[in-house]
Amino acid sequence: MENLNYKEEIEKATSEVILENLRIKYLGRKGIINKLFEEIKTLPKEKRREKGQKINEIKKEIETLIDRKKKELKKIKKEEFFDSTLPGKSYPKGSLHPLTYVIEEIVNIFQKIGFIRVSYPEVEWEYFSFEALNMPKGHPARDDFETFFIEAKEHQKFGKMILSPHTSSGQNREMQRVKPPIRMINIAKTYRPNWDATHTPMFHQFEGLCIDKDINITHLKGTIDYFVKEFFGKERTIRLRPAHFQFTEPSFEIDVSCGICLGKGEVDGKKCRVCKSGWLELAGAGMVHPNVLKMGGIDPKVYTGWAFGFGPERCMMMREEMKIDDIRILYNGDIRFLEQF
Ligand code: PHE
Repeated sequence: MENLNYKEEIEKATSEVILENLRIKYLGRKGIINKLFEEIKTLPKEKRREKGQKINEIKKEIETLIDRKKKELKKIKKEEFFDSTLPGKSYPKGSLHPLTYVIEEIVNIFQKIGFIRVSYPEVEWEYFSFEALNMPKGHPARDDFETFFIEAKEHQKFGKMILSPHTSSGQNREMQRVKPPIRMINIAKTYRPNWDATHTPMFHQFEGLCIDKDINITHLKGTIDYFVKEFFGKERTIRLRPAHFQFTEPSFEIDVSCGICLGKGEVDGKKCRVCKSGWLELAGAGMVHPNVLKMGGIDPKVYTGWAFGFGPERCMMMREEMKIDDIRILYNGDIRFLEQF
């Protein structure tokens, strides 16, 4: 009886089946324990009681050991169980704002032709947004750039603090930072106090500035044409219309041919529903005004340059042919709209 090695056997059991077989081996009707009870009958009477107690103790011990082992195996089984046929848990996946993707794309397009991305202050001095762009104090052209003024101490030279109303405020800062040749792209948030279906008080602008010796309008045209073909497609073309900005001379509005009617203005004899004229307005641009170069410390007799500014929001909507009747949807955080990108 002493050489029963149930302890070791139970301990080594690696499955519930093995354990059940051990239970039958020891505690089953024809098992070892019952056999031992049988054997008692052959002993002399005085010894039976003691032997019986001993066997009972062993029986109980085996029961507890099996019980404990069973629980242990169940726990392991539960932890390891992996049902690969169950449908997986899907976690909500975030994405960047659609405009962030567009900005990245625009930056890449211009980086390929050597333009360097820069950032200038969103909270800017009046001077960089106006005076340095040939719009002295009191000039009526300032009214085109309705402005958020900040309640802060005025600077002797730079005037009031404002939320930058256009990225052109980066022009003078860039001229102060580096000597020509300059090839800048400045994408930033810009602010004007408007809030309606076609305006949000915060929007983005993208400013290109190129200054070097012998730079002329053909370089401006070539660069914008390259951008339009990369961003909108090879079949698109541009045209320049005369316009007026204080900081460029001559100044232009740049239009891109419509992607639906390809510049014809009509589809199947009917007026194009997207552009009505064949062209969509893309950007303001022009040759940098000599006064602006001078204020940036650059000699306009040696250097010339051009600049353009356009809105990435508009570019995105024009390309995706989005029929958004309220542009504010871009910024109201509605997940049902944003999720689509
Ligand atoms: N800053 C002008 C605007 O906000 C656009 C522009 C940029 C025009 C550069 C000419 C040159 O309307």
